[in-house]
Amino acid sequence: MIRSLRGMNDILPPDNVRFEYFLETATAIARRYGFSYVETPLLEETTLFKRSVGESSDIVGKEMYQFIDKGENDVCLRPEGTAGVVRAFVQNKLDRAGGIHRYFYHGPMFRYERPQKGRLREFHQFGCESFGVDSVYEDVTIITMIADILTALGISFRLKINSLGDQHCMPQYREMLVGFLDKHEEHICEDCARRKATNPIRVLDCKNDKCQILYQEAPKLMDNLCEACESDFATLKQLLDEGGIAYEVDTHLVRGLDYYSKTAFEFVSDEIGAQSAVAGGGRYDRLVEFLDGRATPAVGFAIGIERLLELIKMPEALRHGYYMGAMDAESLPQIMQLARDKRTGDTVVVEYAPKGLKAHLKGADRINARYCVVIGENERNEGKVWIKDLETKTESVIPADQL
Ligand code: HAM
Repeated sequence: MIRSLRGMNDILPPDNVRFEYFLETATAIARRYGFSYVETPLLEETTLFKRSVGESSDIVGKEMYQFIDKGENDVCLRPEGTAGVVRAFVQNKLDRAGGIHRYFYHGPMFRYERPQKGRLREFHQFGCESFGVDSVYEDVTIITMIADILTALGISFRLKINSLGDQHCMPQYREMLVGFLDKHEEHICEDCARRKATNPIRVLDCKNDKCQILYQEAPKLMDNLCEACESDFATLKQLLDEGGIAYEVDTHLVRGLDYYSKTAFEFVSDEIGAQSAVAGGGRYDRLVEFLDGRATPAVGFAIGIERLLELIKMPEALRHGYYMGAMDAESLPQIMQLARDKRTGDTVVVEYAPKGLKAHLKGADRINARYCVVIGENERNEGKVWIKDLETKTESVIPADQL
């Protein structure tokens, strides 16, 4: 038997219903915030991710589905959605058009990670990217949108926020941190020693307990922000307070992608185990420039759909649509015609095997239909149908054309 690849799942019943419900809910909310749908390719040039997500990140360094295609191009399955959207934004000269552009997308992402609960090699994200707003108000709006989506799905969460500074304060902080790491060289783990050379701030979210204890003493970016970043972060907190959205400031929240500046955030759930981040994002004011576009401020997020599935509280399944069946083979053509007419505006499922009333009612119940419609010899001769409303439990015989 051929099986799916490790870490790559099918989305089948009963999860498919939750998956679709998630997309419907998130899409409706994103539209309410003025975002419109975009698609970008699953396969992109490898350079795109090297230059955006960053060569020193785990995603690019260890987790890419990268290969040379038949035309000798170095390509890679997208590990995330932001880079492709920014590439499309620049390629289509939207950076030159000016104004504000708000997009949402959803689809599969690929990371060659070690699969475990909540960590897949193919997973699905729902993401939003906003271009052209140089204001922390947009950051708050984006965070509020995620809170709206999670709340609409009945999911409780904790929000962690941090500021990663900008080109004015981050380089100085990085130097201070490297100075601190130099002093404690013999106490940091191998990974951190490597990160010190490639991307020092990533040491802050090291999973090694000894490192974490040490880094309690490390200089904090929060204490070294420039005036503009500090004031934006203060506004962010104030607006979240005013909006009634609870948050924790986590000075070690650095995110696993290199393109962020200023606001960074993560939504976590305490109900799903070790892989607890259900959404993450932040501001990336320099990325459009890094990908050869005109400098454009931007902020966005992505939700990991699989991690949410088990947390979604579905609305009570209401009965809907029609189940139709015949009691004898001669009545089946009429049922088929009725079904075609009714499908112009309703869900109709037809049972082809002629059966008695009781069996049909069972079938209608099994698919959660609202109405069970049956034609037998009498109904056929009189141009009528037997119909039962399975919610109100009322039944009647009515002319077929009044259905
Ligand atoms: P990210 O934090 O790498 O950010 O991923 C966002 C979410 O995708 C995570 O919080 C998690 O729920 C889910 N996720 C990530 N990796 C896996 C995995 N291996 N298996 C299952 N779920 C996973 C980004 O991707 C950024 N592009 C977000 C963004 C958009 N920032 C600005 N705009």
